[in-house]
Amino acid sequence: MRPSHLILCLILVYIIEIDRICTDPIDGFTIVPLTESNFEIQKPYDKLLEERYSFTDGVRRLWVYADDKPHEPDSKTMPRTEIRISGLDYSSGVWQFEGYGFVPNGTSGAIIVQIHGGMGHSTTLILRMYEGDVRYYLRDLIATNLYDKWFRVNVIHDRNQGTVEVYLDGTLKLVTQDHGPGDLYKCGVYAAPPNVSYYMESRWKDIKIYKK
Ligand SMILES: *[C@@H]1O[C@H](CO)[C@@H](O)[C@H](O)[C@H]1NC(C)=O
Ligand SMILES: *[C@@H]1O[C@H](CO)[C@@H](O)[C@H](O)[C@H]1NC(C)=O
Repeated sequence: MRPSHLILCLILVYIIEIDRICTDPIDGFTIVPLTESNFEIQKPYDKLLEERYSFTDGVRRLWVYADDKPHEPDSKTMPRTEIRISGLDYSSGVWQFEGYGFVPNGTSGAIIVQIHGGMGHSTTLILRMYEGDVRYYLRDLIATNLYDKWFRVNVIHDRNQGTVEVYLDGTLKLVTQDHGPGDLYKCGVYAAPPNVSYYMESRWKDIKIYKK
């Protein structure tokens, strides 16, 4: 290879690398302003909010027990303490959830992130924490060793293309088809069997919603 070709080649590698490092999932998106009214908390119906949720120094902490009651007396669903992003339900467009999550060692089996809604499905995306590993539903393993550390989560739902992308710490971990129109984002802890731990907790901060 001639020296000039080598230099061109190195420049090209450099540009590709810079592009890779500088690409952020929020590029091209516009932030949607949120107020506290957009953070609806769903918790066991017979408990006070402060028995399952706290919000201190910007950190929202949500916890639930495997034998807790559902969020509504007549509901047959499993126990949950979850933030449901409200007031921004959608059926079209390109939407993105961003937040920093933290799951303490000991919490296992819980669903920590969801896109609710879908055709013939109750969800279009589920991320579960098992023994420190994050799974897409009960299937694909998308990250390991995430106990006791903050990790950045970006979920893009492109309703026009019918796709969902999941980024963890800025790296694309999953691209999948959606299940028809999802309509809202959730995060927290939802006790979906099998193999849930008795105590389940996740913490969230800097939750943002973006739109394209
Ligand atoms: C969780 O904590 C237990 C007890 O301290 C330890 O044995 C285990 O390795 C930890 N698990 C993970 C995935 O860090
Ligand atoms: C649940 O636990 C059982 C027994 O430890 C194990 O065989 C099974 O694979 C677990 N299921 C999941 C989804 O982790």
